[in-house]
Amino acid sequence: MTSSSRLPGFYDLPLAERQARLRALAVLSETELAALANGGLTPEAADPMIENVVGTFNLPLGIALNFMVNDREVLVPMAVEEPSVVAGASFMAKLARPAGGFRTSADEPLMIGQMQLLAAPDLDAAAAAIAAAEGELLPEAAGIDPVLQKLGGGPRGLEIRRIDNSPIGPFLVIHLIYDVRDAMGANAVNTACERLAPRIEALTGGRVHLRILSNLADRRLARAECTIQLDQLAFGDFSAEQVRDGIIEAWAFADADPYRAATHNKGIMNGIDAVVIATGNDWRAVEAGAHAYAARSGRYTSLSTWGKDADGNLVGSLELPMAVGIVGGATKVHPSAQAALKLMGVSTAAELAQIITAVGLAQNLAALRALATEGIQRGHMSLHARQVAIAAGATGEQIERLAAQLVAEKTVRVDRAEEILKEWQ
Ligand code: MEV
Repeated sequence: MTSSSRLPGFYDLPLAERQARLRALAVLSETELAALANGGLTPEAADPMIENVVGTFNLPLGIALNFMVNDREVLVPMAVEEPSVVAGASFMAKLARPAGGFRTSADEPLMIGQMQLLAAPDLDAAAAAIAAAEGELLPEAAGIDPVLQKLGGGPRGLEIRRIDNSPIGPFLVIHLIYDVRDAMGANAVNTACERLAPRIEALTGGRVHLRILSNLADRRLARAECTIQLDQLAFGDFSAEQVRDGIIEAWAFADADPYRAATHNKGIMNGIDAVVIATGNDWRAVEAGAHAYAARSGRYTSLSTWGKDADGNLVGSLELPMAVGIVGGATKVHPSAQAALKLMGVSTAAELAQIITAVGLAQNLAALRALATEGIQRGHMSLHARQVAIAAGATGEQIERLAAQLVAEKTVRVDRAEEILKEWQ
């Protein structure tokens, strides 16, 4: 844990000095610092994780600054290849600080396991039989993971849903609600569903076909809110009111139109996925849950909302399923993920879920603020220009100088970068 997430000047430091600043915080051991600096996962450690391993794949790991989440200072590790994501989140977290940063909450870690019951002779009788046997079925599902049970997790209930319209006719779906505590929970839930299936078949005379968790983890939502004081919003030629209203108009577009909502939500996921990946979590599961939740009304829409309060400040909120864990899977095996969790000072999955959601909201704000004012390209350009400068062959101090010239000329292209380098020779 860190005393402040404000590290002034961090952005402008050379890589080695940023690493030294991180060391000076005295939060991470040398081994953990090395895991963050070098990708952490060796091919040997990766070998048992998946099949046919030939190596590992690295991404840039940056630290988002300025985050205050429920009055706690948090440095947030983000693994992402896209320029402007880390800078955008950090800058918006800074704008949120005068009003107290991010206020967040999370539901109990309840996951849903689904069992598809086919060929039951009488669906109503089957539903009644399952409901009547709930008291015996739940203890059986609890037995699959004594450790989880000891930690206070385990099955919480059954829900029976009737699907009337399907290409194969009507059938029942049984939802097993399972408290997975600090795990992501897929293993426990899938095992529990497989354990219960024969009992349900015996009770109903039907056939349990699929037994698998649902990624629409809508019993495990996380929420974040922030207020951006009006005086934080003005910049350049843009008045604070212009920026605030522009952001609200941009959100209204996403609220009303799925074409825009997909991109708007992608911007949220830029931040969310980066932290999910840095902590070794399953980003496909989080993505699937987010987009399914965005379509829960039957119409795909924005995951966030933006408006203004009585004092004219900008107010944003975000709510989505957040099935992340801090025990088990890659989170446990990957040394960088362990270091990332330690840097954030996270000790429960719910805390992690809340930080991730705060980052999603900040990322959304960064995109909307840019789009509603100067456009997205300007911010992208300076980092992109560095990459172009390197691609053109610039080294050392040339990189920044060349990137600055490309941006000033508004021509961020490799051919022009090569030309300038030749002029400098
Ligand atoms: C780009 O990765 C993300 C944005 O398109 C998000 C948005 O449009 O809100 C900038």
